[in-house]
Amino acid sequence: MKKIIIAIDGYSGCGKSTTAKAVAKALRYTYLDSGAMYRAVTLYFLENHIDTSQPEEIDRSLREIEIEFRHNEADGTQQVYLNGVNVEREVRGMEVSASVSEISKIPQVRATLVEKQRGLGKNKGIVMDGRDIGTVVFPNAELKIFMKADTIIRAERRQRELLEKGQRVSLDKVQENLESRDAQDSGREISPLKKAEDAVELDTSYLDFNEQVLRILELAKERM
Ligand code: C5P
Repeated sequence: MKKIIIAIDGYSGCGKSTTAKAVAKALRYTYLDSGAMYRAVTLYFLENHIDTSQPEEIDRSLREIEIEFRHNEADGTQQVYLNGVNVEREVRGMEVSASVSEISKIPQVRATLVEKQRGLGKNKGIVMDGRDIGTVVFPNAELKIFMKADTIIRAERRQRELLEKGQRVSLDKVQENLESRDAQDSGREISPLKKAEDAVELDTSYLDFNEQVLRILELAKERM
């Protein structure tokens, strides 16, 4: 069986990453959360008060940023590291969520991260989730999935996830953040969030998680 690239794009909070992780596990593929990379860059920019109106300052910062993913053997999770420090908790918080779409619009940020993502996928056997994976990062991916779900359902899921991580945020605030990110991600000039023409659309509002994963595995096997 040949190794393929599976690109999973879609709106914020559709369950892309949990689905992508389960698909990668079943196929023994690598999983890459491209959103975590944009989140790590955003955290760095916030912590270091980077002036995003200064292109040289952005370029200098991007050269200083090293992003890695490490496996936590104890619980099987993947955690994101920024310059050697585990920032998994910080990058998922509301502060980073509120600024990440603004930082993701910056052309140099996208160019740097897209190059890294392509490098990580060059040997195939990877499931990558994000907003532009099927359209820009891997336009020739063998399988492209575009996920969507009702906003209220996405907000409830995201609120639960935040609570599990110890952050209590009102449903209105979570929903507002999801809607604002969707609008910014879909409306930006470079690599806007949109369904690739050849992507398979999956509405996860009322799909059972296992069904979702099985459907993607079926589609993947047809392409191997
Ligand atoms: O996937 P996640 O919700 O963690 O992504 C956070 C943000 O990162 C998105 O709202 C979007 O602004 C940005 N992003 C992006 N391109 C990607 C992945 C994420 O612009 N491939």
